[in-house]
Amino acid sequence: MRFLRDPYAMLAGQHARFGDTFTLRVVGVGTLVMVSDPEGIRDIVTAPPDVLAAGRARGILDVIYGTRSLLTLDGGGQAWQRRFLMPLFHRSHIAHGQQLALEATREAMATWPADRPFPLVPRLMSITTDILVQKFLKADRHTSLRVKELLLAFIEAAHQPLVFHLPQFPPALAVGPWRRYGRTRDRLDTCLRELCATRRTSPRTTDDDLVTALLRADGPNGAPLDDETLRDILVVVLGSGAETVTYSLAWAMEAVLAHQEAADRARAELRHVTEGSPLTVDHLPRLPYLMAAVTEALRLYPINPIVLRRVLGPGFTVAGFPLPAGVHVAVNGCGAHRRAVTYPDPCRFRPERWLGKGPAPYTWVPFGGGARKCIAAHFAVHELQAMAASLLLEENLRLVSPAVSPGRLVGDMIVPSEGTIVTCTPRTP
Ligand code: HEM
Repeated sequence: MRFLRDPYAMLAGQHARFGDTFTLRVVGVGTLVMVSDPEGIRDIVTAPPDVLAAGRARGILDVIYGTRSLLTLDGGGQAWQRRFLMPLFHRSHIAHGQQLALEATREAMATWPADRPFPLVPRLMSITTDILVQKFLKADRHTSLRVKELLLAFIEAAHQPLVFHLPQFPPALAVGPWRRYGRTRDRLDTCLRELCATRRTSPRTTDDDLVTALLRADGPNGAPLDDETLRDILVVVLGSGAETVTYSLAWAMEAVLAHQEAADRARAELRHVTEGSPLTVDHLPRLPYLMAAVTEALRLYPINPIVLRRVLGPGFTVAGFPLPAGVHVAVNGCGAHRRAVTYPDPCRFRPERWLGKGPAPYTWVPFGGGARKCIAAHFAVHELQAMAASLLLEENLRLVSPAVSPGRLVGDMIVPSEGTIVTCTPRTP
């Protein structure tokens, strides 16, 4: 219950009380061993897949992403998808992602209300979905808008706590939130199936969109991918990609805007680099303070602070404790990021600590680690920086609350409890 009410406070409190390694017994999960020290984290994320499983440990996410995407799979199918998708997030794609991020953020900000406070999170979600739909589907405007609308409605329905935690309500009896979940899922799945069917019957000459590339691919056993797998992959890339970036950016904006000194410094850096001209992708590598602020926000507010693995067989030992098969072991991102030996004054938001240096191995884990680390980590950090730059250039974007909010749980992610309420008054000439 404490985790639901204030997840960061609960995790930080447990770490302060019990140290780097402790056991929680969690309803619905069972025994969960939490680990925060770099050696323990290394042992977890480098364990072979036949010793620790990641996909099945994330079974709670089947309700959104199905059972056939790399997020929830283990084994050959997962490895194939990872190899297939990783190049799409390669460094060479970062500038294009940032370009889309700058354009989408600028366009959206022009429509934001000027006369009243509003929650930033839904607005950011709309932008991050636009970016991914544009980047990966390359569909016409009508189809892009439809996919976006159906995806956001489905994710919202799946995140209703009753549905997310008790998804197995019999379809025949489905009422209320389960009914809405079923309906929104059917609509989204039909739309994605139609999109795949159209690309099958009218193939494109290039395969620079994800659907065409997936349709042309030989899957893990040499056969084309089935429709369910295609659906699950598309929902992971578009859905998880949009949510994670949205919530991480909301935390970064809360952290920067709640610390006047940090906001002033980030804005001064932006003004200095852009010299009054419109912000472009070329300016972004020259914003080290802003990148440090994003890195620091990901440290203090990792949206997935519990990176889970499931012990498959005997033989896995962490911090000297052999763990039996069936228990869960987790990288405790919140504990790892608040260790005073790693981060002096660990609870303070201090972007300066990252200027001129990166994290030591296994001490900064907002994207997990090892062979199951987030496939888009590098890409996402740069997208976050581009969007934050665009938002901060608007001098009159202000946080309504004087301090960073507590978090609340949405699905398996931690988001600012009120959705980051801001005002954005037009600048006086
Ligand atoms: C700031 C944004 C993001 C954060 C904080 C984040 C965080 C994470 C975390 C903690 C994991 C689990 C890693 C592990 O178990 O070791 C993960 C995995 C994953 N993420 Fe991200 N992520 C972000 C952005 C994205 C984006 C933009 C995409 C795709 C468009 C994406 C796709 C995935 C996928 C497919 C996996 C599963 C990889 C596998 O199991 O092999 N993520 N992410």
